[in-house]
Amino acid sequence: MYLHQDWRVLTVGDGDLSFSWSIFKDLAVTQLTASVLDDKDTLAAKYSQNQMASLNANGVKVFHGLDICDKDCFPASLYNAFDLVIFQFPLIPAFSSKAEFESKGKLHKNTLNRLLIWRFLQHSFDYFLDPKGKQLAYVTSKDVKPYSHWNIENLTPNPQQVGFKGWVEFQQLDFPSYQLRNVDRDKVLKSTASKTYVWGNNHCDYAELNLTPSNKHQANYCNLCGKGPFFTEDDRQVHTHSAFHLRLAGYEQLWQAYLTQNEQINLELFHSN
Ligand SMILES: C[S@@+](CC[C@H](N)C(=O)[O-])C[C@H]1O[C@@H](n2cnc3c(N)ncnc32)[C@H](O)[C@@H]1O
Repeated sequence: MYLHQDWRVLTVGDGDLSFSWSIFKDLAVTQLTASVLDDKDTLAAKYSQNQMASLNANGVKVFHGLDICDKDCFPASLYNAFDLVIFQFPLIPAFSSKAEFESKGKLHKNTLNRLLIWRFLQHSFDYFLDPKGKQLAYVTSKDVKPYSHWNIENLTPNPQQVGFKGWVEFQQLDFPSYQLRNVDRDKVLKSTASKTYVWGNNHCDYAELNLTPSNKHQANYCNLCGKGPFFTEDDRQVHTHSAFHLRLAGYEQLWQAYLTQNEQINLELFHSN
C-alpha cells in the first residue's frame, strides 16, 4: 500500500483502531485522523485490546460514531481536509434481529456490502478529500468469496470525476502493529490474500503508486468476473454460461436493481419539489 508520510490521512471504520495506530507508529504517517463506527464504550467493550489510548496519547484525533453512510453525522472539521481516505476490510455488521433486516429493505448482504463501499467512495470524494490534494480513496478487501463477489472495481459512484485506478496486494507484514478484527466480536482474523483497491481523480496522475489495472477493464476479459483472456467468441460464451459467471451476474442484477430504484426515488423527490 502506497502511503506518503506527508499525506493527510483519514481512516474509516477502523474497528479496534490498530490500523490507524500502525500507520502512525510503523509508517510515521503523522497527519492522521482516525474514525470508527462504534462509540467509545461499545468499542472498549467489544475489543478488550484497542488503540484508543495510544492514539489519544500521541495527539491523533479519533472520531467515534462516524457512520460513513450517513452524511449528517460528519463533523464539519473533516470537510475537504485529506489527501487519502482508507477503509480496511469494510463489512456490514450482522443483523441483530429480523426487524433490523427488514428495516434495511430486506436487501441481500451482497448488495448492502456494495452499498457500504459505494457510500464510502461517494462521501470520501464529496466531503473529506481536499479538491487540491492527492484525492485518493483506498479499500482493502479479501480476495476470496464472499468479498470477491462484490465487484469492487466497478463500484464507482461518480465516474465523470473519479475512476478506479488499480490495485496492489495488501502486505500485512508492512503493518506490524495492525490486527485485522472481526466486525462484531473480539476476535483477530487470520490474514488471507487481500488487495487494496484504489480510486482517484480522473485528472490526477498516480503513476508513483505502481498499481495493477483490473482484468475486468481489459479487452477480452469478462468485465464482471475478470476471467479471460477469451480468444474466441465461443470461449466467451462458455464462460458466460458457467455457474460462476451466472452467480455473479445474479448479484450484479440485484445491485443494478437497487441503483435503478434508488435513482427513481431521487428523481421522484426532485420532481415533487
Ligand atoms: C471486518 S471489520 C474491519 C475492522 C477494521 N477496519 C480492521 O481492519 O480491523 C469491518 C468494520 O467496518 C465497520 N463498519 C461497518 N459499517 C460501517 C459504516 N456504515 N460506517 C463506518 N464503519 C462501518 C465496522 O464497524 C467494522 O469495524
